[in-house]
Amino acid sequence: MSDAEFKYWKIEQDEENFVWLHLDRADASTNTLSAEVLLELESHLQQLHRQSPRGLVLLSDKENGFIAGADINEFGQFKDQHAALEAIHRGHRIFNLLESLNCPTIALIHGYCLGGGMELALACQYRIADDDSKTCLGLPEVRLGIHPGFGGTVRAIEVAGVLTALNVMLTGRSLSAKAACKMRLIDYAVPKRHLKNAAYSLLRHPPEKKSLPFWLTWLNHRLIRPWLAKYMVYTVSKKANRAHYPAPYALIDLWEKYVDDRTTMLHEEAVSVAKLITGKTAQNLIRVFNLQESLKDLAKTDAARPRHVHVIGGGVMGGDIAAWCALQGFNVSIQDNRHETIARVMKTAYGLFKKRLKHPRIIKTSLDKLMPDQPGYNLSRADIVIEAIFEDPDVKRELFRKIEPQLKDTALICTNTSSIPLEDLTEALDKPERLVGLHFFNPVAKMPLIEIVKGKHSSDENVIRASAFAKAISRLPLPVSSSPGFLVNRVLMPYLIEAVILAEDGVPLKVIDDEAVNFGMPMGPIELADTVGLDICLKVAEILSQSLDIDVPDILKELVERGTLGKKTGKGFYTFKKGKPVKMQADKDYTPPVDIQERLILRMVNEVVACLRDNVVENEELADAGIIFGTGFAPFRGGPMHYVHERGEQQVYKMLEKLQQRYGKRFQPDPGWQQWLKEA
Ligand code: NAI
Repeated sequence: MSDAEFKYWKIEQDEENFVWLHLDRADASTNTLSAEVLLELESHLQQLHRQSPRGLVLLSDKENGFIAGADINEFGQFKDQHAALEAIHRGHRIFNLLESLNCPTIALIHGYCLGGGMELALACQYRIADDDSKTCLGLPEVRLGIHPGFGGTVRAIEVAGVLTALNVMLTGRSLSAKAACKMRLIDYAVPKRHLKNAAYSLLRHPPEKKSLPFWLTWLNHRLIRPWLAKYMVYTVSKKANRAHYPAPYALIDLWEKYVDDRTTMLHEEAVSVAKLITGKTAQNLIRVFNLQESLKDLAKTDAARPRHVHVIGGGVMGGDIAAWCALQGFNVSIQDNRHETIARVMKTAYGLFKKRLKHPRIIKTSLDKLMPDQPGYNLSRADIVIEAIFEDPDVKRELFRKIEPQLKDTALICTNTSSIPLEDLTEALDKPERLVGLHFFNPVAKMPLIEIVKGKHSSDENVIRASAFAKAISRLPLPVSSSPGFLVNRVLMPYLIEAVILAEDGVPLKVIDDEAVNFGMPMGPIELADTVGLDICLKVAEILSQSLDIDVPDILKELVERGTLGKKTGKGFYTFKKGKPVKMQADKDYTPPVDIQERLILRMVNEVVACLRDNVVENEELADAGIIFGTGFAPFRGGPMHYVHERGEQQVYKMLEKLQQRYGKRFQPDPGWQQWLKEA
């Protein structure tokens, strides 16, 4: 390749014969390792092998970071395992070329250094990272259903020892520069202004590499490995089912079998990743990743960042929303009828900040951003008002009438209602176009999705502003129409109700929950209902039953009447001890009905089809994204509609018909199925 042909890497050689190789992907805002980027790197490395520089530094010219990983778009394109293996071997060849350079090599890191980027850094002799809070390092491949595949498994274990390396790879967690340094994954964490000097100092006087303490290398001994591997498999099995998520098990296996022999382990790593990446789980998880990115893209806009957010209602939701917005850097005021509520909001916000921010100075900065404002003095300053008061249309309308005259003309009004059509609220407003639904999920700090509800009167511009705001507070915006239950609650409710019907029929609660978990749900439906609160479930079910064909089970009403509301009262369907449900084993001779899983999942799927027919969401991708990020629907299945297509539309339809014959019209296939059947 001639210099003019280099598109991605810029080479710079200084007077001390040190080479600086800058990555700056011309066609992207973030650096990733595509095939082309790697091939260009290979040309440079071959050249450097010939010219023997005194040292090499790899760095990024992108503001946001070093390298965010391999190019995920290429992951979905492998024809078969063989094609995947070829691509992975190419990566190995190039990283080995880097590793075998006969001079000190340094990865100079800022911002993202993840996946393939981290593996590249591990192939250098030294790693120096900016100690800023934006720096994040890690090997998160397991989240995409694979494990590191460019030699990262071998090198991470070599530099950090098996316990740390496997922990980082099995959890896929991100590390700050300081944490990565403590774990030996990098050599130095320094302030940004010292990065270059630190690199020069290393290049001029490369220190001896420290070897791992004896006890850490000893854990790789062939007599220890089977025991340690067994323990790791046991720990992983508590979080991930092997049948659904094979990657962590493949990683443990790789270490246990091959760590004694570097060359074989490198080879087997490639074989294992080629197999995983062409498997269903990885392909579906890659789909989920892409869905997530497309939700983020929906909010790509120049909409001005609000300077002041005013939240009204400091209960379960409003308090958490206010705290979350302050944590995300916004100036927030919180208004409520009751002083005590405001005091509680401040206390819980402190708990959240302490947990997330750790450092007292940064905690204080976030606390300063959250202003108690019981009477609502800040209404006139607000760019966005978020209403989260009682779920009662009259109360909400009255509030809107009262506050609108105090607002700026440009202020956006958002409601967190979970069931009231926006049209029932806009009659209280002079400017109905400014009302948009911003439907958060509980718990706010954990649930990544916000439904952006467009009412009949909401203006497009305001919907865009609301989506941009959702993104600005690190949440995924899902545009939905203003219809009962929107998407997520509407789909979730038939599933929860079916679980309650099963319980009424005498199926043990644990059996119901286990069936859902075996399908891949993060939590069983009975435990979920108890966690959300049975009063809330009942309220949403009653509202949905007014417009949709839903019968509310009597047992749910009885439990609420008795005041057994679930986790918050210590008793619902389950009894809770220390916040955990006590789950009784079913009798040994109990035989559960064979169709529990079908009953639960197909009611959900049938409702998704109904939502698509009703245009609650625009397309299947958005429906899948909403259900995965709003309910936790088994991510490795790629979403409910993707599940239907993989299983076969005809087959799912026929199963619904069978269930309808057995259990009645609640399983009647929605008319929306006809479209899929015609297409099939
Ligand atoms: P909540 O009952 O815990 O809190 C409501 C708060 O609003 C109370 O602190 C009350 O003092 C205050 N309030 C009532 N009227 C007021 C007024 N006129 N001015 C100022 N403050 C007033 O209710 P929660 O659960 O937080 O729900 C709030 C909204 O969020 C509802 O619309 C609900 O449907 C929605 N939502 C609730 C979810 C949940 O899991 N609880 C999930 C998603 C949405």
